[in-house]
Amino acid sequence: MKKTETKKTILVTGGCGYIGSHVVCLLSEAGYDVVVLDDLSTGFRKALLYQEKLYVGSCGDAQLLARVFTENDIEAVMHFAASIVVPESVTNPLKYYQNNIVNTTTLCQAVEKFEVKHFILSSTAAVYGNRGSDATPCAENFSPQPMNAYGRTKLVDEWILADLHVAHPSFRYVALRYFNVAGADVQGRIGQNSLNATHLIKRAVQVALGLYPSMSIFGDDYDTPDGTCIRDYIHIADLAAAHLKALEYLVAGGSPQVLNCGYSKGASVKEVLDTLDGLLAVPLLRKTMPRREGDAPCLIANATKIRETLGWKPCHDSLETILASALSWEMKLTNKKAIRRQPNQEQVL
Ligand code: UFG
Repeated sequence: MKKTETKKTILVTGGCGYIGSHVVCLLSEAGYDVVVLDDLSTGFRKALLYQEKLYVGSCGDAQLLARVFTENDIEAVMHFAASIVVPESVTNPLKYYQNNIVNTTTLCQAVEKFEVKHFILSSTAAVYGNRGSDATPCAENFSPQPMNAYGRTKLVDEWILADLHVAHPSFRYVALRYFNVAGADVQGRIGQNSLNATHLIKRAVQVALGLYPSMSIFGDDYDTPDGTCIRDYIHIADLAAAHLKALEYLVAGGSPQVLNCGYSKGASVKEVLDTLDGLLAVPLLRKTMPRREGDAPCLIANATKIRETLGWKPCHDSLETILASALSWEMKLTNKKAIRRQPNQEQVL
């Protein structure tokens, strides 16, 4: 889409964060006018590559929201601002109820008042929760069984949108249930900035760069083939593209949807670390630790519906690509080098 008078304005909450900033970049490059609302608690101003208009503050601030919606003609809201760390949600659940439910309600009150018709929610695979060692990919119609406050609060967010649609049928939404997002912008401009992130791939590439001495494996006694938890890892670039597809779908009149974002294939913690080792001259030092509270043994997406509904097709569907991208970004971010494996080099053990 070319930049024209008719370009649509999209409000992106949490647009300075990891996932939000990749979507902001894609929206700007597609010719949308982007307005960002971010309290910068975990996001970074420098993640906005095209100097998009930024309001610094919380989605829970009704006065600020009134200003944002009055000063801009918002066509759609993309709501990324949230607390997103599973283990933290176990130890500090009220932070999750406040940020993910109370603040989302306040945002939706503004959406209702200013009659915004389109909404895209960052939801999560954590709504599926504990499916035991059942490796059947989760379809959207599986009954949710969230096993931590993070998953529960995101499920409530989905219900808020569903109820708002019942009250105002012209209000339509897409809730995207992210599986495990990793990697960075393919041009290497933006990525996961926070240095104390706890996610597996982020932490593993930090260990590869010597920022931590070893890699903890949280539990190797799960009822899975190698005893470690299985997740469906999706490249940030593919996830960001799904948001643009969802926006186009809503603007074209699409009905409300809940859609998984994943590749329909799982990798265990050990498989992720083995794949990273394959990129490195020296394998990571691993330590087996007790299970982490709130972890589901296996979460794999059934990603049929998003392909059929949005026509979304992944372009970076390989664990090695995701890990190489995460590693390159972390090297740029920290100015450190990993000793990469050379072609034909024997693995050093
Ligand atoms: N893990 C380790 N060592 C680490 C970090 C993680 O073994 O240092 C393990 C975890 O125990 C888990 C797996 O790697 O089994 C993945 O853990 P992450 O912390 O990377 O991600 P989660 O699955 O806990 O959560 C992520 C996002 C959520 C999202 C969820 C969907 O943080 O927002 O994926 O599956 F909902």
